[in-house]
Amino acid sequence: MKGHLLAISDLTRAELEEVLDVTDTMVEVSGRSIPKVPALRGRTVVSLFYEDSTRTRLSFDTAAKRLSADTMSFAVSSSSVNKGESVRDTIETIEAMGIDAVVVRHCSSGVPAQIAAWTNAVVVNAGDGWHQHPTQALLDAYTIRSHTGSLDGLRIGIVGDVKHSRVARSDIEAFTALGAHVTLVAPPTLLPPSVAPWQVDVSHSLDDVLGELDVCYLLRMQRERMSEALVPSLREYTALFGLTSARADRLGKDALIMHPGPMNRGVEIAGEVADRPNAVITEQVANGVAVRMAVLFLLLGPGRHALPPTGDPSSAGAASADDTTTEERP
Ligand code: CP
Repeated sequence: MKGHLLAISDLTRAELEEVLDVTDTMVEVSGRSIPKVPALRGRTVVSLFYEDSTRTRLSFDTAAKRLSADTMSFAVSSSSVNKGESVRDTIETIEAMGIDAVVVRHCSSGVPAQIAAWTNAVVVNAGDGWHQHPTQALLDAYTIRSHTGSLDGLRIGIVGDVKHSRVARSDIEAFTALGAHVTLVAPPTLLPPSVAPWQVDVSHSLDDVLGELDVCYLLRMQRERMSEALVPSLREYTALFGLTSARADRLGKDALIMHPGPMNRGVEIAGEVADRPNAVITEQVANGVAVRMAVLFLLLGPGRHALPPTGDPSSAGAASADDTTTEERP
């Protein structure tokens, strides 16, 4: 992987697998008693979030710190954006302070790509409008692979508000590129006008597909992006498309239940279902830190050759947190 990370479609299958393989190493680093390595010492990563976030912002910040990068966090609510400063002037101002990477979230599709044209720093898309959320897809693919060994041939249902979901767009591209068979499950009003660009099936009935799924991926009802009533009521949506306890009982015993968060418990997923052992929602969050470490390392670090063998922190080339002799090796 090189350049920026703006969309999953920019990555080949080999590049997707490279991120997942490097994530294995970052999971091992994250499990150490002191989960910190000097790989990005001297580099500066700035978080530029124009839209709310809990998981993505905190996990990028944690990832950068675990790699010993310096971090800057930009809070729009207390910045000169409120005095009318443009995105371009903001990025040029931050770049003047000396930065190596910008992690950006914006409510408008395409803003990360636009910023990439204005800065010499590496740009990582942390979610833009309905368009893309590539690191979410990478952490989702990693979480599935950690349970199944591979996505090849898996049957993955993506259920709910596909129309407004950048997570769905990135997940569809990542899962199909890695060999999975994806079925979108939603009422017609919550699907985009055309799904022709994707290699997916479509069903308007969760009950029809539930028993065949290896992974049931629930999407949040994104009411903040809806300008019209696209479902008669949330109650009716839950009755037809919610993963209720009764529906979860019909999933295969090894089927994974996933959700990108934040969840609307009781709407797209029953509260009790979200807490079942095969619901891997908090695993997704934990893997998000390691995946983002891998992305920052691959975009800013010395290269994959500097990685130690997975799971063997004592081997030659593996750095411990206080090891200053192997500076660039996780
Ligand atoms: N999944 C996700 O993007 O969550 P946040 O909005 O909390 O970052």
